[in-house]
Amino acid sequence: MATKPKIMDEKVGVIQSLRGLMVEVEVTGERPEEKELLSVEGYPEVFLEVSFFRADRVVCINLTNAQVLRCGQIVSRTHNKVSVPVGPATMGRVFSALGEPLDEGPVINEKRLPISEPSGTKSYRGSQKLELLETGLKVIDFLTPFVKGRKIGIVGGAGVGKTVLTMEMINNVTRNAKSLSIYCGVGERIREGNELYETLKETGVLKNTVMFFGQMDSTPAIRSMVGPAAATAAEYFRDVEGRDILFFVDNIYRHIQALTELSTNLGLIPSEGGYSPKIFAELRRLEDRLSSTDKGTITSVQAVYIPADDLSDPAVQAISQQMDSVLVLSRSVAESGIRPAVDLLKTTSSLLTPQIVGDRHYKLAGRVQAIMQKYDSLKNIIAIVGENELSPADRADYQNAQKLVQFFSQDFTVAEHLSGKPGQYFTLEQTLKGIEEILEGKPAEKTAEPKEEKEPAETSTASK
Ligand SMILES: Nc1ncnc2c1ncn2[C@@H]1O[C@H](COP(=O)(O)OP(=O)(O)OP(=O)(O)O)[C@@H](O)[C@H]1O
Ligand SMILES: [Mg+2]
Repeated sequence: MATKPKIMDEKVGVIQSLRGLMVEVEVTGERPEEKELLSVEGYPEVFLEVSFFRADRVVCINLTNAQVLRCGQIVSRTHNKVSVPVGPATMGRVFSALGEPLDEGPVINEKRLPISEPSGTKSYRGSQKLELLETGLKVIDFLTPFVKGRKIGIVGGAGVGKTVLTMEMINNVTRNAKSLSIYCGVGERIREGNELYETLKETGVLKNTVMFFGQMDSTPAIRSMVGPAAATAAEYFRDVEGRDILFFVDNIYRHIQALTELSTNLGLIPSEGGYSPKIFAELRRLEDRLSSTDKGTITSVQAVYIPADDLSDPAVQAISQQMDSVLVLSRSVAESGIRPAVDLLKTTSSLLTPQIVGDRHYKLAGRVQAIMQKYDSLKNIIAIVGENELSPADRADYQNAQKLVQFFSQDFTVAEHLSGKPGQYFTLEQTLKGIEEILEGKPAEKTAEPKEEKEPAETSTASK
């Protein structure tokens, strides 16, 4: 937090009640600002954040989850808000949502920005050229093109491969030395954060990465702040340094979950499917910050957990609406051993247009989607009457669909220790050619060999 209270004697009042993370202070002195940090007399390490006002009281969040708070303690203003370090000094570093180092490096106090205040720069979706970034993952490059400045959601239930796919994306797209990455870990396993840190260190990507973590052991207050903290860092690089940023989040659903827990803690009543509309407004505020301006771009990959495998969950819907592409991972596909376990029919992208991907790719995608739809309905017929009863044309489509499903499966570099096989990287051209060969009836095995392992294309920009 790096808060050095300027004046300690600007008394706000005394603590009136304590419940969970909620602290109510009766205002008898100065009225603090929203989101201001308040200090508690006698405990310089403890901070309360102003959440909202209720009559003559100010409702605060006990940020440090301190157990030393008691009713009657004196609370004072600090004139500070939660801030995180920004700029080149933060590269290669790992921070908490409060901007405190989680690695062995020093505390950074020189250049910090409050996390609750968006940079204010207007987002920009002008007529700039849409640049395709190659990921080397066949199904992503083909169905949900990864476009600079846009957002892709990796949506799936528990254990279907969201984290592994996000890591593979980091591995494949951050190799371009010019790109700057920000990683935001929200409410997931602590072990996964450590593993990612070690991997990035080994592959030399860490020096161009800034990481923020508020994992599942943190309080909901901290978990709900890590997204805004990472967004603050990204906005600085985008607007002040004019950089293009790759922004990875695992897992954005946990952001909503943290906000929900926090509002329950503060005694606010949820509505729609257990979520309050205010929470969705906060999500939109965060997503708006992760957009592109005329200074630079933010391209994001966001893993989205689906509670109880229910795609219609209001939070999942609210997140999906913010994405340009939604890659849906399915349990049944994962169970059949296909990786990444993509549901080819539920996956959608607004970026799959002839202007962005070109005519050849666009038409091919239409054909694949039609065949996959037919496959879905033929599966039911086959279950009843068997494959032999199909017309020759239907049988050919059915078999091609099966080949396509297999074709989109590939080995991951980051899962080498799990599968025992080296990772594969396919150029977009290899992917398109492979699909054309399948649709023309050539055997799937002979389609595109992976590109000479494991170097990605010279530049990550795919030519159209
Ligand atoms: N590409 C892959 N190759 C081999 N195994 C994989 C691959 N992807 C996922 N797995 C297996 O599936 C497991 C779960 O994957 P992962 O942790 O990515 O799921 P998740 O969707 O992030 O789960 P959670 O919702 O619990 O965070 C992995 O531990 C691994 O065993
Ligand atoms: Mg995960």
